[in-house]
Amino acid sequence: MSGYKESLETSIVVASTRGHGERKTGAVNVPIYLSSTFHQESFDEFGPYDYSRSGNPTRDALEKTIAELEGGTRGLAFASGLAAISSAFMLLSAGDHIVITEDVYGGTFRFVTEVLPRIGIKHTFVDFTDLESVASAIRSNTKLIYIETPSNPCLGITDINRIVELAKANNCLTFLDNTFMTPLYQRPLDLGVDVVLHSATKFLSGHSDIIAGLAVTKDEELGKRLAFLQNSFGAILGAQDSFSLIQGIKTLSVRFEKSADSAQQIAAYLNNHTLVEEVYYPGLTSHPGYEIHAQQATNPGAVLSFRLPTQAIAKAFVESVQIPVFAVSLGGVESILSHPAQMSHAAMPKSEREKRGITDGLLRFSVGLENVDDLIADFDQALLVAAKLIEKVGI
Ligand SMILES: Cc1ncc(COP(=O)(O)O)c(C=O)c1O
Repeated sequence: MSGYKESLETSIVVASTRGHGERKTGAVNVPIYLSSTFHQESFDEFGPYDYSRSGNPTRDALEKTIAELEGGTRGLAFASGLAAISSAFMLLSAGDHIVITEDVYGGTFRFVTEVLPRIGIKHTFVDFTDLESVASAIRSNTKLIYIETPSNPCLGITDINRIVELAKANNCLTFLDNTFMTPLYQRPLDLGVDVVLHSATKFLSGHSDIIAGLAVTKDEELGKRLAFLQNSFGAILGAQDSFSLIQGIKTLSVRFEKSADSAQQIAAYLNNHTLVEEVYYPGLTSHPGYEIHAQQATNPGAVLSFRLPTQAIAKAFVESVQIPVFAVSLGGVESILSHPAQMSHAAMPKSEREKRGITDGLLRFSVGLENVDDLIADFDQALLVAAKLIEKVGI
């Protein structure tokens, strides 16, 4: 034993090229196996692949890569982040109850509130920064505690260790949506989480070109149950998108590190601007989750949210910026500005949104790879336009 431990940056490249790449030819890019079915050499002994819903060599390479990067034993690739999340919820049965963070992605909120109750699975939303409330929400039929940290869009931080402790004491599974961190910056399985979920549409793929989801488990038995659900539910990722996602993962560390450095500077800039009422970014020491995040993750990431006084001012700002695209989604090479109240969280009723701080003046910013000084200059001129609007019509 040399005692040498490979860094995540190295693992990313090795796992996605040599680790699980093409072994017969040595190609550093895994081939795209566009085949729905596979010829069997023997009448009664089948090879490793029979039908691409159940298993495809390109998807396999991706699944092995994400399992290795998250420190798991089984990775599974789905047609979208929500397909991964909803398939994982199928581990539950009628009569079960979920305790879930109230600061959760709007699509997860929609599935938990509008689909699961129809099949007899109930839920309680709780503020996960208040551990006593989490403990008192657990019932005898609670089977799952669902975490998203940092959360979308207010970057709320949950203490993963403490929630895992509570879950284990009550025989509950834990799921964690790791979309905002990726395994580069946070590895929940190492902290005892049972299922890690990703919208791989975001930083993992990184080019705003595919919709994809991933789930990873450490426990082999749980991995088998989830693989069974993946095949039964059938929402698998196709071979071409699996290939694109592997290519995206290869450059994750350089993309994400540059974007996160810029995010830190932009958060500091916004935090000092008089028109900005609040900045949500776990890299600011003023963020209530700053210390917990620093213990469980290695970087605050590349997404921040900030509150302008009203929707009209947010609109003036969005209409004045030149560089970012105004769009749903995050984690691309291009900076993406979004308005959660009308976009990612439109599925949540206004009263629920406001309880969570998702006001009409809140904007979310996913920092891309543009020059950070250009981004700050662009924000500066757009905030000036917004300030002039206030001078003219008031708040
Ligand atoms: C934190 C988080 N989880 C899950 C999802 C859903 O993923 P997808 O859009 O890939 O289905 C999103 C999408 O925005 C997200 O931001």
